[in-house]
Amino acid sequence: MNTSVNAIAGPSRTLPRKSARPFVSADNRPSEPDGIFRVVLITSGSVASIKAPDIAAALSQSGDIALQIVATKSSTHFCNQQTVDAAIRKSFGINEDENLPEDFGVRVWTDEDEWSDWKKVGEPILHIELRRWADLVVIAPCSANTLAKIAGGLCDNLATSLLRALSPSTPVIVCPAMNTHMYQHKFTAKHLRIVQEQLEYLILGPQGSGILACGDDGPGKMTDWREIVFTIENFASMHKQKIEQGRMSVVPQRIHQPQQPQSTDIRNGDGNANGNGPDDAQPERPKTPPTPGLPTSTVLPAQLQNMTIGETNTDTPVSAIPPVEPQGNANETSIAHWKKMQNETYWQVRWWAG
Ligand SMILES: Cc1cc2nc3c(=O)[nH]c(=O)nc-3n(C[C@H](O)[C@H](O)[C@H](O)COP(=O)(O)O)c2cc1C
Repeated sequence: MNTSVNAIAGPSRTLPRKSARPFVSADNRPSEPDGIFRVVLITSGSVASIKAPDIAAALSQSGDIALQIVATKSSTHFCNQQTVDAAIRKSFGINEDENLPEDFGVRVWTDEDEWSDWKKVGEPILHIELRRWADLVVIAPCSANTLAKIAGGLCDNLATSLLRALSPSTPVIVCPAMNTHMYQHKFTAKHLRIVQEQLEYLILGPQGSGILACGDDGPGKMTDWREIVFTIENFASMHKQKIEQGRMSVVPQRIHQPQQPQSTDIRNGDGNANGNGPDDAQPERPKTPPTPGLPTSTVLPAQLQNMTIGETNTDTPVSAIPPVEPQGNANETSIAHWKKMQNETYWQVRWWAG
């Protein structure tokens, strides 16, 4: 049992450690805050899932972030336990012949685990335990199919069951990735709007242009994986600050100054375990082309705009965000939108005020 952190001390470093099966949230997170930010990364059947091992490897470098991966059946064609293990091993500079504990790494959970780890009533149910454990859920990449299922409330696999069972106070980031025509399909805009406005998930990307894996040139490519790592780290930092402040009634207006990853950082190319894609070879993260046609601003209820952590407002349910009209401003990216929201105390109240 490992109640403190999803990691073990190696000879001179902290190595990530897979959680024991069956997974029980209480065994993997203490009842009191321990400074660890717990992230569930959902991968779905977009080719961009090949970047998930890079995300896992980069996050594993942080002793303060614990990770579980949930892979849909389709996404296991692109990312699985072996590719994630290899990426993490490489990111720690561990040779193939170096002996490691059997549970080294980050576990990739699949639909089979949901059922093979459950035998009878009373035993832990994987999607429930994972949602109890999570401080943040990131869907990267989010396929058109998974997006449609979430928007429609379907829950026919581990990933969508977890999302459907998730507390509304747990933030979710969605990173769509699909062919340009899939992205420009009318249903995609509709589904993104439902997911953003009704479920209040954060939409990050896709990139507004670029050559896709299928050869098409246009919007639909997943936001650069380093930007996704950067965003998760921002959330971790916001969460940490909230924990440190306890239930103080005042929070700074600007709670985090985003910093660009340093060139020596794993996220700038060195952490690429599988050499997939030309952008991995570049030392700097390329500028993400703006996301076209997505809603770019959120109008907050007046009562919530000046709320700070610790305040409660019984008159206004936090779900009362008015619908957002799409603005189609291609100059403003989703990440810029998120950074703007990051400075809104609303989101702290929304997610971590309890
Ligand atoms: C090689 C390959 C690449 C694919 N890439 C994408 C993609 O980038 N985005 C997408 O939405 N679907 C893509 N698909 C289709 C999805 O895998 C398919 O819709 C699947 O049902 C998604 O299931 P999931 O959402 O449960 O993971 C791809 C399929 C194949 C065979």
